Amino acid sequence: MSDGRALARAYLEQQRLLGTDAVPLPPAAAPVPVQPESVAPEPKAPATKPVELPPAGLTFDPPARDLFTADPLQQVTTLAGVAELVAPCTRCRLCESRTKTVPGEGPAQARLVCVGEGPGRTEDETGRPFVGQAGELLTKILGAIGLSRDQVYICNVVKCRPPQNRTPLYDEIAACVPYLFRQLELIQPRVILAMGNTAAQTLLDTKQSLGALRGRIHRFRGTPVIVTYHPAALLRNPNWKKPTWDDVRIAHRLLDD
Ligand code: URA
Ligand code: SF4
Repeated sequence: MSDGRALARAYLEQQRLLGTDAVPLPPAAAPVPVQPESVAPEPKAPATKPVELPPAGLTFDPPARDLFTADPLQQVTTLAGVAELVAPCTRCRLCESRTKTVPGEGPAQARLVCVGEGPGRTEDETGRPFVGQAGELLTKILGAIGLSRDQVYICNVVKCRPPQNRTPLYDEIAACVPYLFRQLELIQPRVILAMGNTAAQTLLDTKQSLGALRGRIHRFRGTPVIVTYHPAALLRNPNWKKPTWDDVRIAHRLLDD
């Protein structure tokens, strides 16, 4: 395949993630002229280069719960079972203002799990994760690495919507996180994509900022964790789309390893 076509394909692939106006396509009327090898410009599109894997980062190994505990969460062995426990949950104050719980959705054999912060308005109304505007962008991001939404398990750190979409408080996260940990234990994904500060800091048990956590392969109970921006943050700040693209390509490469 010619360099020009490879470049065009890379642009198109990137555009699926970045949106129609974020990456200027080379003008259609001025095709890249075929040049002798010696003066051919270096292709700049990152998608044509193989992804380099970043260095190792943090490791978080929360102890597994005792199998013989009476804790009902340890007794359930399916994602539907976890959702059944979440539905009537009153372990934190977020239960007071929720409409529906949003446990998460996707196949139990998913190779990739995407973790967000908590349900927003549409999620609270429907009981489904990432179905609002941020969800549409997440679907595009997954599409850019060749995954359809229904191949991926999508969930949040807290399963009930915080009032006014505020960041969940520490005690709310602490109350809810056993559900997420159990979901991950049951799914055993190849890769976890932590989207935004709350997901990253919770899965890695750290207060480090997202900026400091990006660009490393962290581990949660041995599973690689890639940290990236939250899709809702991308809607506010399109400059973060390119770094997000870099992050999801790392996740993609790890999926295939
Ligand atoms: N933002 C999140 O963190 N999760 C959702 O489910 C929707 C928006
Ligand atoms: Fe229970 Fe989590 Fe909802 Fe709090 S946010 S009530 S811990 S399901």
